[in-house]
Amino acid sequence: MKILLLGKNGQVGWELQRSLAPLGEVVACDFDSEGDLKADFSRPESLRPLVQRVRPALIVNAAAHTAVDRAETEPERARAINATAPGLLAREAAAMGALLVHYSTDYVFDGSGHAPRDEAAPTGPLNTYGRTKLEGEDLVRASGCRHLILRTSWVYAARGGNFARTMLRLAAEREALDIIADQFGAPTGAELLADVTAHAARRTLAEPALAGTYHCVAGGETHWQGYASFVVERARALGAAIKVAPQAIRPIPSSAYPTPAARPLNSRLDTRKLQAAFGLVLPDWQVGVERMLAEILQR
Ligand SMILES: NC(=O)c1ccc[n+]([C@@H]2O[C@H](COP(=O)([O-])OP(=O)(O)OC[C@H]3O[C@@H](n4cnc5c(N)ncnc54)[C@H](OP(=O)(O)O)[C@@H]3O)[C@@H](O)[C@H]2O)c1
Repeated sequence: MKILLLGKNGQVGWELQRSLAPLGEVVACDFDSEGDLKADFSRPESLRPLVQRVRPALIVNAAAHTAVDRAETEPERARAINATAPGLLAREAAAMGALLVHYSTDYVFDGSGHAPRDEAAPTGPLNTYGRTKLEGEDLVRASGCRHLILRTSWVYAARGGNFARTMLRLAAEREALDIIADQFGAPTGAELLADVTAHAARRTLAEPALAGTYHCVAGGETHWQGYASFVVERARALGAAIKVAPQAIRPIPSSAYPTPAARPLNSRLDTRKLQAAFGLVLPDWQVGVERMLAEILQR
């Protein structure tokens, strides 16, 4: 089986190179790939010849405009990458009967309330990133292609920039950190997402009725200050040079840290549909964060 992987150098894309390998021949592309393998999502039409040349049975799209604040000042670019390009991939997938795996986000929701949202909950994005990701989902669904849309949250990996790595850097430099403690969600490892993707794609190729939209996040929940405290304390236990004292990671409200893009307060996602459909277990978020820290700090 031929698999076209787009966004191969992102957090999730990098892990997909590993997890998709046993499923077939992976043709992996990114923005800066050479020649025929270049996949520039800001020019969606340029993707058509690539897909038609590879003729994959499975397309996995891990490319996205993920700079949430920057998207506010470049909405057209965010829209091309997060909506128009995935829409084109979906139409190509429909034309050649391929399965498309696409990722989306908790930011398609408005973050009101306290309960975890399931896949049928009404959407209501608060920012440009969320709006363009929702538009991308809608275009994938409207194309009629067989698809898996996996909505996830707070993605981290040992490679690439993310909140946990920023906390490690700041904790080594500063004596105190003020971290938001009123946004709730689940940090989710790129490794876990990539492994779930391989299982779910394989099952859906054999059983097309499994296609659809699913929430895919690690188990449990926390807020950013809880996440930061966990990262810093585990890093300290692993012998990392940490300056900040445990009680000096202080909780603040979102209002004390204004950003160009508004963030949802409640990013909790209900994953029961995914776990039941594919017979999978989503471990608690701490499991993957511990593993990432060991990987980063014990190199
Ligand atoms: N990160 C999160 O916290 C988070 C949360 C919820 C959902 N998600 C979703 O999960 C998926 C994977 O996210 P991730 O964390 O792996 O993101 P990431 O690390 O930012 O990777 C995104 C990839 O897309 C590439 N890209 C950006 N602009 C491109 C363009 N014009 N053409 C082609 N490729 C381009 C990036 O390349 P460069 O690095 O060279 O720009 C990068 O390789 C995305 O769909 C994202 O929306 C992420």
